[in-house]
Amino acid sequence: MSLARLKSLDPPHKGLRNALAQFSLLAGKTNYGNTASVKQLQELGEEVFHLLFDHTQTEDNYILKPLDEKQPGLAAKESAEHIEINELEKNLKQKLDAFDGTQTDEEGHDYYLQFTEFHSHYLLHIAEEDRHTEVMMQQYFTDEELIGHQVVIMQHMDFRTLLLWFKYIVPARRREENRQVLEAFKANAPAEAFEAVRQTIQGVLSPADFALLMEGWL
Ligand SMILES: [Fe+2]
Repeated sequence: MSLARLKSLDPPHKGLRNALAQFSLLAGKTNYGNTASVKQLQELGEEVFHLLFDHTQTEDNYILKPLDEKQPGLAAKESAEHIEINELEKNLKQKLDAFDGTQTDEEGHDYYLQFTEFHSHYLLHIAEEDRHTEVMMQQYFTDEELIGHQVVIMQHMDFRTLLLWFKYIVPARRREENRQVLEAFKANAPAEAFEAVRQTIQGVLSPADFALLMEGWL
């Protein structure tokens, strides 16, 4: 029996699927002719697009680059797709920022469909990465090296971005997995940082799920 290998891409991809699904749902019921309704979508968009941009950059630096160093060309397809995806994201974010609550239903519907097209494309991209890129990472790097990458990623991340990742990843993963990450974080981070993470998580889990996750810490 072989032990399960570390999956570096799994947590951020689950978090992004959660974030994208939320944005898709809200974009479909937004009243584009109403300022408050549009503002709500823009606020969610700030978070979702921030994570999307952050993730592509992280993958470029800590997944695709190390793979390419092992064997030139290994990550060529994913790197090319990242450039295309980045353009689509920038375009969608710019359009979102330009909305001011005076758009017609048709304009809103067109934006919703554009997002949906991007969403389908993106889901396929990350599923391919989960099936192929993740396996290549496991092939070329030991779990210790993969953990080393994760430590460097976290060290370079600003706290706001880290909190956002917790916000979308925690509701998308199993309790034991969350518990493991939180225990490691609690052991290494200042008490105020853990408290901020705790509050963030409380805001996105049901009271019952939050109580189970925090059992013994409250
Ligand atoms: Fe990617």
